[in-house]
Amino acid sequence: MSPQKIREDFPIFQKRENLVYLDNAATTQKPEQVIEAVQNFYEKDNANVGRGLYDLANDATQKYEDARRKVAEFIGASKDEVVFVRNTSEAENLLAHSLNFEGDIVLSEMAHHSEQLPWRRKAEEEEGTKIDYLETEKGKISLESAREKITEDVGLVAISHVSNVFGAENPVEKIVEIAHERDALVVLDAAQSTPHIPIDVRRLDVDFLCFSGHKMLGPSGTGVLYGRKELLQEMKPYQVGGGMIRSVEKGDIEYGEVPGKFEAGTPNIAGAVGLAAAIEYLEDIGIENIQEHSQRLSRKMIQSLEDIEGIEVLSPSGANLVSFTSEYAHPHDIAEVLNQEGIAVRAGNHCAQPQMQELGINGTARASPYIYNTEGDMEKLLKAVKKSKKVF
Ligand code: ALA
Repeated sequence: MSPQKIREDFPIFQKRENLVYLDNAATTQKPEQVIEAVQNFYEKDNANVGRGLYDLANDATQKYEDARRKVAEFIGASKDEVVFVRNTSEAENLLAHSLNFEGDIVLSEMAHHSEQLPWRRKAEEEEGTKIDYLETEKGKISLESAREKITEDVGLVAISHVSNVFGAENPVEKIVEIAHERDALVVLDAAQSTPHIPIDVRRLDVDFLCFSGHKMLGPSGTGVLYGRKELLQEMKPYQVGGGMIRSVEKGDIEYGEVPGKFEAGTPNIAGAVGLAAAIEYLEDIGIENIQEHSQRLSRKMIQSLEDIEGIEVLSPSGANLVSFTSEYAHPHDIAEVLNQEGIAVRAGNHCAQPQMQELGINGTARASPYIYNTEGDMEKLLKAVKKSKKVF
């Protein structure tokens, strides 16, 4: 895998030659192949899906459903278990709105807001439903805490595969085992793992999986909810409207089959086509190679940053990003110095305020590499962090 060669596929690096983009956990850049897939769709195949009877509409529907098949294969699901949504937040909101279950809810301290707020609202609305939080231990969900807190009273466990603050893989398979032993459903937020880790929903044995297309080279406004078919079938639609019904009479409404039942209105058709192109691009490189690359760059950054006095690294080994704090400056100030050197990192609470409160910090600076980042980018980052120390 050659990041230098990969960079050539990304127009943004030709248009902004000095950009060192290290905010991939927030969103990734897009290769020509994805941009072209979206453009080609609009130029050659654009029509609404699932409605028209003419050739063009059939072609558009075919492209949209092919994209769904591609996503399903990518995560080891079947095609009718894949619902297209806008992003991970929408997938979590859909579930919290539509899923009925008995019992309390277990989240994690590290949960970012999109996997935390929908369930907190659900608990507020359902009288008697309690919420508890799995603790964080060295950047991962504590298994001991899972054994203690996932009791027989729990009906749903919603956790991240990889935290957007620490970047390390959580012991998901063990947590799923504990949850299922106690008859609780498991929702896995895979927003930070699908870009880096091979995903197989059957092997993970999760009941639901949520992720975003834009964090894995796909267009903005694309996301996916996977759900076991029998569970999706039982759920009521999240939104109602065009394209999701079997029949509407004055006295009666019959909803359509899954997954269309959850896709009211005209969907982001070109986005889905672009996401399929992104998956093809990632598969050509190989997700295992991507995982190895992001971990190798992160490991280097972790080791180098740990050697700087006054810097504390929060990401454990094996992480695919590096989060750090410093005793000499606020993360925002560090990010600003890096910005002046053309380096884009995220700084702040990363939409995980409860985790920051638990850690007793006001945020971190976070550098998250991806397939187009090079060793040279890491050296620039290191140099700029050292410079920030001098500045402050
Ligand atoms: N959840 C995204 C991030 O971590 C937005 O930056």
